Amino acid sequence: MSLSGRYFVETYGCQMNEHDSEKICTLMENLGLEPGNSVDQSDVIIINTCAIREKAEHKVYSSLGKLKEAKRKNPDLVIVVAGCVAQQQKDELTRKFRHLDLVLGTHHISDLPDLVERIRNSRERLTKVDFIDDIPSLHMVAPGRGPRPICSYVTIMQGCSNFCAYCVVPYTRGKEQSRSSEEILQEVSQLCYSGIKEITLLGQNVNAYGKDCGRMNGFTDLLEKLSQIPGLERIRFTTSHPRDFDSSLANAIGALDRVCEHVHLPLQSGSDRVLHLMRRGYTFSDYAQKIDILRSKVPGCSITTDMIVGFPGESDEDFEATLAALERIRFDQIFSFKFSPRPGTAAEHMSDQVPDEIKRERLAQVHAIQDKITEVYHQEIEGSVVEVLLEGCGRLENQFFGRTRSNKIVNFSNSQNHKIGDAVEVKILRGLKHSLLGRAV
Ligand code: SAH
Ligand code: SF4
Ligand code: F3S
Repeated sequence: MSLSGRYFVETYGCQMNEHDSEKICTLMENLGLEPGNSVDQSDVIIINTCAIREKAEHKVYSSLGKLKEAKRKNPDLVIVVAGCVAQQQKDELTRKFRHLDLVLGTHHISDLPDLVERIRNSRERLTKVDFIDDIPSLHMVAPGRGPRPICSYVTIMQGCSNFCAYCVVPYTRGKEQSRSSEEILQEVSQLCYSGIKEITLLGQNVNAYGKDCGRMNGFTDLLEKLSQIPGLERIRFTTSHPRDFDSSLANAIGALDRVCEHVHLPLQSGSDRVLHLMRRGYTFSDYAQKIDILRSKVPGCSITTDMIVGFPGESDEDFEATLAALERIRFDQIFSFKFSPRPGTAAEHMSDQVPDEIKRERLAQVHAIQDKITEVYHQEIEGSVVEVLLEGCGRLENQFFGRTRSNKIVNFSNSQNHKIGDAVEVKILRGLKHSLLGRAV
């Protein structure tokens, strides 16, 4: 099977989706297509979409709208919508957008070459969105394509079985499915053999890794085994769920040298009442206790989180609890969002939806508090020497970037002939809002 021409992939959403796009690129290149630099130059266009909030979903409509003219000029153009909006909207999308050729669900990435070829030959318009028990693309290896050639994503599980009241992911990715540890270890060994130094293990809820196959300590066992792979220097993972986060994982982070001292642990709200309505399965005090354990086992561990403001029924008092939680935990960094009602989720039609105006005000308050906390953290690092894995070159000569083990981005000057992949000792000269500036020592 072989085609000629160029393909173009546009990606929205989470790291899981970024990695799916890497798989899509690999598949298109195996089919004989070359990467195009723009939509205008391309013969196959794939929009890999995200449905997490309304704003993310709208991006696909705006992208598709723009492609109408391209299709008119070139009727042979193949336009594909993949990812979470494809899964959610199904053939509704092909009905709405007459120039769309293929709606590709999240379990069918591996079918893309066959389907593109079929469309090229027969001009059919297709939708493939059923959920399956063994997702072929979960077993696929795809090299990274980002600006960090020594870092790679590795999917360890797909889907989520949690059904938090606000979230579409269980509907767009299906139930939790773990990959076998043998396959993961083999992939990581191969990656390290080819020069990868850092991996990020991906899953919606990595703490639950292996539980769908009846293995209880699956995730910590996996970290231990990965730690023995030659050449691998740093292991990261995302996302952890507070309900499933326990002291054995804190112990593993503390004990395993290659596992980086950073945990992304989405709290969502500081109010127990709201957490209950969200169906998160923990209270704020459960969460705070786990953080205390983590900090006692892994001193200086960086902790980041996700927060939602304006969940239905969130009162001033509930929101005060969220602000208090930020002050109590003192996260290194947070990602905060206005609640967005998603089709088919439990929270979509809950009463007491919070007006947008109030959501906006609350989000601004969250930002103001967190910005100060992050600033203090960054100032505290000024003057110290940290280990930075050199990931890539900046725009100016002798300018490089990388990250600390705690996942802080560092831009630094380097007159010492270090190269990509080196662990460099960097003196931090200035802490900015989102990054650090330093000099190799
Ligand atoms: N699996 C992860 C995160 C998945 S989505 C977890 O369990 O937390 C990333 C973040 O988007 C979530 O943590 C949440 O903060 C936010 N999010 C999800 N659905 C949302 C919605 N309907 N409105 C606003 N933010 C949402
Ligand atoms: Fe969504 Fe909750 Fe699953 Fe995270 S754990 S993906 S927020 S349903
Ligand atoms: Fe978005 Fe789907 Fe990821 S909804 S956040 S692309 S799992």
